[in-house]
Amino acid sequence: MNKNETVNWKKDILKFEKERLLIQERLDAERSGLLRNKMGQFATPVCLADDIVQLALELMPKNVQIRFLDPAIGTGVFYSAFLKSVNNQNFCATGIEIDPYYGEHTKKLWQSTGLNFLLNDFTTLRPPQDEQSKYNFLICNPPYVRHHHIDSRQKALLKDRLNENGFRISGLAGLYCYFMLLADAWMQSNGIAVWLVPNEFMDVNYGKAVKKYLLSHVELIRVHRFTPEDVQFGDALVSSTILVIKKKLPAKNSVTSFTFGGTLKKPCHTKIIKQLSLNADEKWSLLYKKQRRTEQDHISLGMLFKIKRGIATGDNNFFILSEEQIHKRHLSYDYFLPILPSPRYLKQAVIDADKKGLPKLHQKFFLFDCDQSIETLKKTHPAYWRYIQEGIAKGIQNGYICKHRNPWYSQEQRPPALFVSAYIGRQSANKENPFRFILNRSNATVTNSYLAFYPSILLLEMIQKNNGLDVQILDYLNSLCAESVIKEGRVYGGGMYKLEPSEMAKIGVDSLIEQLNLTKNFTKQLTFF
Ligand SMILES: C[S@@+](CC[C@H](N)C(=O)[O-])C[C@H]1O[C@@H](n2cnc3c(N)ncnc32)[C@H](O)[C@@H]1O
Repeated sequence: MNKNETVNWKKDILKFEKERLLIQERLDAERSGLLRNKMGQFATPVCLADDIVQLALELMPKNVQIRFLDPAIGTGVFYSAFLKSVNNQNFCATGIEIDPYYGEHTKKLWQSTGLNFLLNDFTTLRPPQDEQSKYNFLICNPPYVRHHHIDSRQKALLKDRLNENGFRISGLAGLYCYFMLLADAWMQSNGIAVWLVPNEFMDVNYGKAVKKYLLSHVELIRVHRFTPEDVQFGDALVSSTILVIKKKLPAKNSVTSFTFGGTLKKPCHTKIIKQLSLNADEKWSLLYKKQRRTEQDHISLGMLFKIKRGIATGDNNFFILSEEQIHKRHLSYDYFLPILPSPRYLKQAVIDADKKGLPKLHQKFFLFDCDQSIETLKKTHPAYWRYIQEGIAKGIQNGYICKHRNPWYSQEQRPPALFVSAYIGRQSANKENPFRFILNRSNATVTNSYLAFYPSILLLEMIQKNNGLDVQILDYLNSLCAESVIKEGRVYGGGMYKLEPSEMAKIGVDSLIEQLNLTKNFTKQLTFF
């Protein structure tokens, strides 16, 4: 498809995707679970399809025509993700689907985008003969049809087809194994393929043929597994693996990234293994078990920071005032401390300070905090005395928190913290860490809608000596993988997460120490003020 044609449908792609989702949901709901199971009809979640396609696009050279193929296209979730991300690169695309129940809709939906749609059984089709007509971008969630749903006649045909291509496989293999092995002949050399397949091939006997193929016929670039505790995808996917391959014989120095947990973009653990040292006879899931044991974090956030919840004022409306409110009441700044607005209103990742240490924010807020008696204030600061009377008239002094303070309008000590994060987080659609961290270079303190992070003395010294280290730490904290953060806290309705300071303190940050070249001994010397 050339650039001019691209422009026409590009603006409509979100409309297409919306329609596709509606079709997918309706068709899935109207079909029995049993039949979908028999035909391996489980759709890929959109965000995962987007991640997969983006990852594959990153591996593609920019100056070639992309030849897209999904041999089990369903309603086209990968094709849709591809159209969203492909930009102006020249491409053509083919999708194959056996079942007219989905296929008729797919054909109609994507017709105007130039998709070459084939309503057919992929396993019976002959691959293109010449290299130019093959594909260099194959993305597929193949049907997970177990061997007992494949009848013996079909099994024999499948085996024959594999034999023609030089592969042999056990009769216990699921249909997805045949798909992968047969698809090899459809790929151009140096083409990229991403397969979303069940984990089980890693350990079961029939998986050997697949592992042999992955190790000796192609470069196995990436093997990503989701964790069983994964909160991100539906049940059908927690036991899935994503395989990224390049059709090219493995070189001596070819390496495979085994990644685990988190998302495809931000896995929690990565282990790089030389491809030639991998063995098809071994259970690959053991690689992950070892990895989990050896890569357990030894250094936690609590070792680098003292973490405290912000101030519970007793009544934010009374105790937190804007500059205008302070001026209106003729209050001086003698008993006001700068305080950050609620995380909801704070969009910046870095809060810089003005000459007085006040946060450089469009609207500044201050916390009323005074230890003088009412009698003294009446003489020295009558405006304050009047303001306190306003509070008394509202009964603020009788609230639980105020009743336990003396005087009731004094606040607990919470010095400004260099890093803060929201106490409650909501996970966004892209499944990133719900807790946003902020670098606070000002003298502003925070309320209890934040957690405050006070660096250990040693870390603080390093930050002061190394220009930019504070921002590096901030970036690290904001790129913590969602799963490692969430697993420590609690989830509430509507995807809301809460982390208490002690829970936040448990989050492992070994890689921070490695990334920033801080030695492990460093953490042993930690002392807090
Ligand atoms: C796991 S679903 C994936 C659908 C879609 N690509 C996605 O990721 O949401 C597998 C699809 O392959 C189709 N399928 C099953 N056997 C097939 C075959 N032999 N040839 C082509 N498509 C097949 C199913 O009907 C189903 O739509």
